[in-house]
Amino acid sequence: MVSHVREEADFDAAWRRAEPVPGWLTQAQGRALWDAVGRLGPGALVVEIGSHQGRSTIILGLAARARGARVIAVDAFVDGKLFGGSPTRQRFEANIAAAGLDDVVELVVGYSTKLRPTWDRPIDLLYVDGKHDYWTYTDDLLWSRHLPADAEILVHDCYSSIGVTLGTIAKILFGSRYTYVDRAGSLARFALRRPTTKDRLRVLRELPWFARNVVIKVLLRLRLRPVARVLGHDEPYDPY
Ligand SMILES: C[S@@+](CC[C@H](N)C(=O)[O-])C[C@H]1O[C@@H](n2cnc3c(N)ncnc32)[C@H](O)[C@@H]1O
Repeated sequence: MVSHVREEADFDAAWRRAEPVPGWLTQAQGRALWDAVGRLGPGALVVEIGSHQGRSTIILGLAARARGARVIAVDAFVDGKLFGGSPTRQRFEANIAAAGLDDVVELVVGYSTKLRPTWDRPIDLLYVDGKHDYWTYTDDLLWSRHLPADAEILVHDCYSSIGVTLGTIAKILFGSRYTYVDRAGSLARFALRRPTTKDRLRVLRELPWFARNVVIKVLLRLRLRPVARVLGHDEPYDPY
């Protein structure tokens, strides 16, 4: 009981650190990342693909510090309006330093798809939040070759991004390598083990939610927020 209360307080403090950093991670999703790292043993290695300004990296890093684990943050710092290029890298580095995580988080700058073929370090937890097209996402799932059996893979924008969801249908619903466990909003949790029929049905049951998210995205682009509100989405942002 005492340790559960301390755990909550630790997560609350970590979220207070991460929340001011611009990004897409919700508090419930931060909690899911925190809990996933909390299930790892000392010396574990977490790989995050897609770190942006460090919102999720701070949660992973603070959780890793508490477990004696480490985080590798992989980001290409893609140019353009959405991701911001090299100024984003500077913000990431400043945010990680301000959170006191320089000794826990190692930044690897590059495209995940280019780094993956020669990657040779064992990983204990994989968090995928890089480029959301089908090809990159399904390639990013292959980083799981470095995970032990039953290890967890967390994926942001699942059942929300079309590319990520198509990849999930192809590799998780119809594949035999990953089992869908649950989700916090669009942050899905998979385990590296063969799925049962029941596990596959759980993916199918998320597809109406995916359809609703696609409708909301279309409505937002058509500036029809009041209609999106009727579907329970009361924000100017896409559903995450
Ligand atoms: C959605 S953001 C990540 C958000 C971050 N996890 C957070 O909580 O704020 C996606 C990031 O992935 C990076 N990115 C996009 N494609 C990539 C790729 N192929 N390899 C590595 N990073 C990539 C972008 O530069 C961007 O910073």
